[in-house]
Amino acid sequence: MSLKVLSGSSHPKLAERVAAALGLEPVRRVLERFPDSELHLELQESVRGDDVYVLQPTSPPVDEHLLELLLMADACRRAGAGRLTAVLPYFGYARQDRRARGREPVSARLVCDLIAACGYRRLVAVDLHSRAIETALTIPLEHLSAVPILAEAVRPSISSDAVVVSPDLGAVKMAERYAAFLDLPVAIAHKTRISGTEVSVRRIVGEVRGREVLLVDDMISTGGTLEKAIEALLDAGCSPHGIKVAASHALLAGPAARLLGKLPVEKIYTCDSVSVAAGFPVPIQISPLAPLLAEALRRLHNEESLAGLVNP
Ligand code: R5P
Repeated sequence: MSLKVLSGSSHPKLAERVAAALGLEPVRRVLERFPDSELHLELQESVRGDDVYVLQPTSPPVDEHLLELLLMADACRRAGAGRLTAVLPYFGYARQDRRARGREPVSARLVCDLIAACGYRRLVAVDLHSRAIETALTIPLEHLSAVPILAEAVRPSISSDAVVVSPDLGAVKMAERYAAFLDLPVAIAHKTRISGTEVSVRRIVGEVRGREVLLVDDMISTGGTLEKAIEALLDAGCSPHGIKVAASHALLAGPAARLLGKLPVEKIYTCDSVSVAAGFPVPIQISPLAPLLAEALRRLHNEESLAGLVNP
């Protein structure tokens, strides 16, 4: 069974980098739209009997990328692939893992069911919003983490009296991991989400006065969470200089440029789990994810342990 990497249209460059790190080229395929906008996919080489890793962050436009992911599985399955693994460096819909109000779908659950139903036998993801999504998955999950990579990227420019701040309760474990890597204390912003674009931060728990801040999160979408956390941190007396942000997935959607551009953020540290558009008003340092993904795929293919790569 040969290892093959197949990419959708959401991040072909990342797929090329992962394939190159494995000494391969991505599977040749045509992905186009019919005039009525239906997707049309065709594999241009055999995958019969192969161990195929389909790399597709379900980044915006999320639904298009998700459908591609499903169609790629169907094409591989019908072409006789031996084993199929979905590799989602960023997993869109993972945040909707429960009903916040009545008459809502549990979208994360449905997406997990779709991924399993179309033939994937394993899912590889990076820094999921919540590990709880594993309970919705009927196939095994390999949960990788970019935290060690991003902590090393931040290390040269962080001061020894800085504080790692979680912008909400959901990111506390992640903040503790950064703090352990960087030997720093942790503080927490008490956030309440009002809507998809609106949040409020009531107070900061922990000592931040006079300290440099490293805010950490799984993702930046609209930037609303960071905006409110930074405002509350400044009110609580943190140093307005050297505010840094480390987030695994920089979606930077909607008003993110406007919201973050007006704040004293020195730099955003992220990785290339999704492709980041140029021209963002805050400096962004992007660390490559390909070495981590390639090593994970190599070990999965060889049925070796992922110890040291997976999120504890
Ligand atoms: C939510 O709990 C996540 O961890 C992020 O804090 C959130 O999704 C970021 O979204 P936004 O940038 O739109 O506030």
